[in-house]
Amino acid sequence: MKVDVIVAPTFLKEDDLKGCLCAVIDVLRATSTIITALASGAVEVRPCLTVDEAKKGVAKLPRDSYLLGGEDMGKNIPGSDLGNSPLEYMAGEVVGDKVIYSYTSNGTGAIWKAYAGCGSPVYIAALINVSAVSSAMAKEAAGGQGKGIAIVCSGRYGGPSTEDFFCAGMMVDRIARGLRKHGIETQLSDAASAASDIAAANRGHGLNVLSSSEHGRFLESIGFADDLIFASRIDLYSVVPVFDGERVVLLK
Ligand code: MLT
Repeated sequence: MKVDVIVAPTFLKEDDLKGCLCAVIDVLRATSTIITALASGAVEVRPCLTVDEAKKGVAKLPRDSYLLGGEDMGKNIPGSDLGNSPLEYMAGEVVGDKVIYSYTSNGTGAIWKAYAGCGSPVYIAALINVSAVSSAMAKEAAGGQGKGIAIVCSGRYGGPSTEDFFCAGMMVDRIARGLRKHGIETQLSDAASAASDIAAANRGHGLNVLSSSEHGRFLESIGFADDLIFASRIDLYSVVPVFDGERVVLLK
């Protein structure tokens, strides 16, 4: 089975994802935040393509049933309840039973683009759930679903991001091991092979990878150093969120 890594949605060609099982990664910070919110009791997360879409979405809901969150170019959305730091979404008393509408600069768009490309539920991945999401995808693939596996990195403003690529490499290794247990060998694309090499070269140094990345340095410069520490915690959660074309919910 082919395993591919797409370094940023801008690198996607027509039909690249057709028939594949897809995952989206945005370690800093959209998928880390979505995973944390759902692990902490949020009902669902609705990724939006524009701030306006997010605001219109919540306008229809009872005020105590939702939270508006996310960021736009690193800054909180005016009038929002929360920003896009995963640390804001850890408290059950804040996110419990809430529907969360979120817009972010790269991650929410990447989720929608991956769904449009593969037309099936998209797995939401980050370092904090990397083993659980990889295991779920390997199990689904071993069951005959999908002609291949594609891991889409959200990247940053159209270009690649080291932290997403590092996480993708960890997924490639875990998925390959999982499929091998089912007697299925994998054929890695060059990007998947390179991502695996990056993951091997930086094994145990996730925080260094995040701190030395462009976006990590930017987040540190605006006071979000703690987000990097949190987002680098491998397998903090064992939840597997999936996007079904409307909402992100936990895989049962
Ligand atoms: C993204 O979409 O790239 C992230 O959400 C940006 C951020 O949260 O800093």
